[in-house]
Amino acid sequence: MRPRKLTGDEARPSPFAWWATGIVLLLSVLFGALTFHLSKMYRFPADAGSNVIDVSSYPAEMQRKYKLFVNKCSLCHTLARPINSNLKSAHWNGYVHQMMRKTGSGLNETDARKIIDFLEFDTLQRKPHLQ
Ligand code: HEC
Repeated sequence: MRPRKLTGDEARPSPFAWWATGIVLLLSVLFGALTFHLSKMYRFPADAGSNVIDVSSYPAEMQRKYKLFVNKCSLCHTLARPINSNLKSAHWNGYVHQMMRKTGSGLNETDARKIIDFLEFDTLQRKPHLQ
């Protein structure tokens, strides 16, 4: 039997096919965005933690250095990332310098020194197990 020639209506994709394609595309984009977001959260779980430190009991000098830390270290990521990190006290020196070398960090040696001072003090206060 020879295949029958399709008539005009049969040859055109049904509107349902357009809808289905649209929905599949939309779902893929949403799924992509979700995985992207989760991969970021998963890489630095600290980002999901608290964004502030209660410094009311810290010496005045440390409270001033905390303000500098808040201003300088929230430019590229959440402040929660350093606040909830598991870096040991002795590692802040190297780590803050690593941040300073990043393009556009806006950090100079004087400010970096003060921030390191604060982070070492703060680790001693809040995370004594990380000495
Ligand atoms: C110029 C952008 C920038 C600035 C400013 C910056 N960071 Fe970062 N930081 C990053 C990037 C990007 C990462 C991801 C890891 C990497 O690329 O090194 C990161 C990661 C981190 C981490 C995660 C380390 C880990 O493995 O858990 C900590 C902690 C951190 N930064 C602390 C700081 C502190 C403290 C400051 C302020 C002195 C600061 N950052 C300022 C860009 C920046």
